[in-house]
Amino acid sequence: MASTEPPAIRPIGVDDCEGVWPLSIEAGWNQTLADWRFMLGAGRGFGCTGPNGQWQASSLILPLGQRLAWISMVLVTRERRRGGLGTRLLKHCIGEVQWAGAVAGLDATEQGRPIYLPLGFRDLYPIARWHFDAAKDKPSPLPGVSVRPLGAGDLPRLALYDRPHTGMERPALLAHLALRQPVRAWLAEDVGGRIVGFVLGREGRTATSLGPVVADSEAIAIALIARASAAAPGPFIIDVPAVHGPLRAWLEAQDAVTPRGYMRMTLGEAKGLDDPSHLFALAGPELG
Ligand SMILES: CC(C)(COP(=O)(O)OP(=O)(O)OC[C@H]1O[C@@H](n2cnc3c(N)ncnc32)[C@H](O)[C@@H]1OP(=O)(O)O)[C@@H](O)C(=O)NCCC(=O)NCCS
Repeated sequence: MASTEPPAIRPIGVDDCEGVWPLSIEAGWNQTLADWRFMLGAGRGFGCTGPNGQWQASSLILPLGQRLAWISMVLVTRERRRGGLGTRLLKHCIGEVQWAGAVAGLDATEQGRPIYLPLGFRDLYPIARWHFDAAKDKPSPLPGVSVRPLGAGDLPRLALYDRPHTGMERPALLAHLALRQPVRAWLAEDVGGRIVGFVLGREGRTATSLGPVVADSEAIAIALIARASAAAPGPFIIDVPAVHGPLRAWLEAQDAVTPRGYMRMTLGEAKGLDDPSHLFALAGPELG
């Protein structure tokens, strides 16, 4: 029988990644151990264990600059749900973020949103998760734009391009993704060598995740996604702000399906975060 004592909130360290991974597997999520290891190393995890020391609930804060922090991996094992654990962990994370003077952002599932709304989070925009097996369309060249593999030497420029287009400061995350799956990392440049877009990706437990995709235009974003998905076999998942109609049409033409979505939400104002005009795919709801 489940204990009725409210368990203490404990930090989750990098060494606990194997212990918390079953929580995301139970929820059917795509994270690998490498994802947990990165998130717990770059951010701070908090959770609760049961009497046998097993992790029963988790939550995570990933700083994305001084002013913004992403709350993610809010997971409660099935047998402990509806007992207030999710709300307690979330309140703990909010307290930590606000103490640091930052704004909290997150991508809410349908299950998570009923917790976040009463705590003051407001909706920014909806996001559709797409699944597809393989890109049917071959990557085609765009006039005045060249697409090439991204190298380690591009990373400082990449972070400078990303920040004003997304409102996020995330050089460590971009470097992690670029080096983890070089085959999915592509850069688009104009004739003057100026960055006009990029795509990164990572292997997942059930599918390769494509994103982030940041670009000057939707045509460039589509060219980058076509290139990254043609580079090695799928299946793929990609999280796309619902506002991007042509990209949605391209995904439908690849026989992609969208079984669920998220709502991007914030607690407070974060400059640029409410504007997805240059953000064509998330790094992931857990990463921003
Ligand atoms: C979402 C989740 C973390 C909630 O954890 P929890 O410990 O059950 O949450 P709480 O007990 O604090 O619930 C808080 C309130 O949220 C609402 N709520 C929670 N789960 C709900 C559900 N399945 N349907 C409707 N309302 C729900 C209720 O208002 C609930 O209060 P109540 O139980 O007094 O009615 C848990 O269901 C879970 O791990 N889900 C799978 C992973 C997930 O979607 N995480 C959210 C990522 S954004």
